Amino acid sequence: MSTLLAINTSPMTRTAVTRRLVQAFVCRWQERFPGGQVILRDLGVSPPPHLDERTLLAFSKPPAELADSDRNALRHSDELVSELLSADHVVIGSPMYNFTVTSGLKAWIDLVGRAGKTFDYTPEGPRGLLAGRQVFILTARGGFYAGDSADSGMDYQATFLRSYFAFLGIDDVRFVHAEGQGIDADTARQGEARAIGRLEALFAEGQVRRVA
Ligand SMILES: Cc1cc2nc3c(=O)[nH]c(=O)nc-3n(C[C@H](O)[C@H](O)[C@H](O)COP(=O)(O)O)c2cc1C
Repeated sequence: MSTLLAINTSPMTRTAVTRRLVQAFVCRWQERFPGGQVILRDLGVSPPPHLDERTLLAFSKPPAELADSDRNALRHSDELVSELLSADHVVIGSPMYNFTVTSGLKAWIDLVGRAGKTFDYTPEGPRGLLAGRQVFILTARGGFYAGDSADSGMDYQATFLRSYFAFLGIDDVRFVHAEGQGIDADTARQGEARAIGRLEALFAEGQVRRVA
């Protein structure tokens, strides 16, 4: 059975473009993988805590040495890592905030990057442990950054997410951008419609593949 981890990260609950894109993705995914399991995680409404000293110290302790207080500190990270490990596909709705991801998504990223669980240190350098999975990032941006836009160098959202998932061993990361959301109502609508079209094309062209 296939499993999709669907992550919303917009703090906006009613108006978020990325929430509509995630919803559309989940619907198409359920048609493509009938009976598949969908895990919903909302980092916009319930952001995980920032990394703190107790959690960082507990990250580097061997399991046999963990005290109850360490296990408690690891609770959020363990839950998020377990969701990520159980997923074949991950879809993330990611609004661009100040040229990068929202702080809720960054907190999740810090909590799921766990040595020994999602990556390993080896003599040759770090090695990601999540190979084989597919990640789909559905963004919304006020301006235009994709392709040959003059502002493409300010897109620290896509470059960061691509690098991070590659670090975890996931090279198959696809982006769908709803751009121009801050220009005017027509431009915003067109940007969202183009994004929905691209998202549908991902499924129509068989780019959302069954993970072995
Ligand atoms: C705090 C904040 C920071 C933003 N920073 C940027 C930015 O750096 N570049 C940009 O193009 N749009 C920026 N925007 C616009 C959002 O990316 C845009 O409104 C998008 O639709 C938000 O996604 P959502 O509708 O899914 O919440 C920002 C919006 C907010 C609220």
